[in-house]
Amino acid sequence: MVGNGRGILAADESVATMNKRLEATGVAPTAEQRCAYREMLLTTPGLCDSISGIILSDDIFTAQVSDGRPFPDACREAGLLPGIKVDTGAKPLANAAGETVTEGLDDLRARLELYASAGAAFTKWRAVIQIGERLPSRRALVANSHALARYATLVQEAGLTPIVEPEVLMDGSHGLDRCEEVTQTVLHTVFEQLAEQGVVLEGTVLKPNMVLAGSDCEPRAGTDEVAAATVRTLRSTVPAAVAGVAFLSGGQGVDQATAHLAAINALGPQPWELSFSFGRALVDEALQAWRGDPQRTGAGQDALVARARANADARAVWAAPAGSWPGRAQRRSAASCRR
Ligand code: 13P
Repeated sequence: MVGNGRGILAADESVATMNKRLEATGVAPTAEQRCAYREMLLTTPGLCDSISGIILSDDIFTAQVSDGRPFPDACREAGLLPGIKVDTGAKPLANAAGETVTEGLDDLRARLELYASAGAAFTKWRAVIQIGERLPSRRALVANSHALARYATLVQEAGLTPIVEPEVLMDGSHGLDRCEEVTQTVLHTVFEQLAEQGVVLEGTVLKPNMVLAGSDCEPRAGTDEVAAATVRTLRSTVPAAVAGVAFLSGGQGVDQATAHLAAINALGPQPWELSFSFGRALVDEALQAWRGDPQRTGAGQDALVARARANADARAVWAAPAGSWPGRAQRRSAASCRR
């Protein structure tokens, strides 16, 4: 999922979120267009050279592409691992004004069996953490981390790989330092709970936010500052046993997310692969180019593959000196997935 210089495409928007994005692009918010959009993405020629897997939402995972194949089968035939978002969303947390806890544990064991038998390789669960004057509360951090850990053990029991996503939102006017402090506390709490529940870290992918100043903070932090704060945070909180780290983009612009990923990787080798699992920062250009028009499928796919390659290249900026551990660029070129 995170090796060979590739990343993971997050195409798991809920029906409501996907409808909003389609409408903003002038596309009718229908089940047909939601499926057509995801089919356009996953049938992109050459996508598997820079993307290892796609995260889908339940409504798409159980649907068919236009030739009748189930979406998970179409993913595998395109050289992409099918993944599924299994949480049921962030809901208001009792006794914690303005904060949420992500739900979906109740029937998860049974749902995982169904997803595994339909071909899922991995899963995702997203916890949402808001920065505010007095937020996040310890209560919200523990509730969300506990749920992430319970989710991850169930997923491993089902023989699948969990992506653990604790997202510290960019919303707000806080500075880079505050995001660093909160992200450190979040990750400490998450790994404490993963250990408590016996999650196997070697079979877990962490999907964190990059450490960024709030979207209303001026002046913006520079790219190198973001990279240094992000790597510092991960190095002080994430055990080396974790299989890999795949960043979310969190509302950054497409070029900004790619530049940050490159700057992070340019800081040299870390205990884990530093990959990407972007949603908006991978697909925004493709959605604009496609606009729901079957005649523009090629244009959408060209935009997607170009952005996916740019991010894979951002992972390859560091190359080891000759004779040492192989550089990422070398490992990637040795592992093309083309069939
Ligand atoms: P963004 O990269 O658009 O933040 O989406 C990633 C994701 O999976 C959010 O859950």
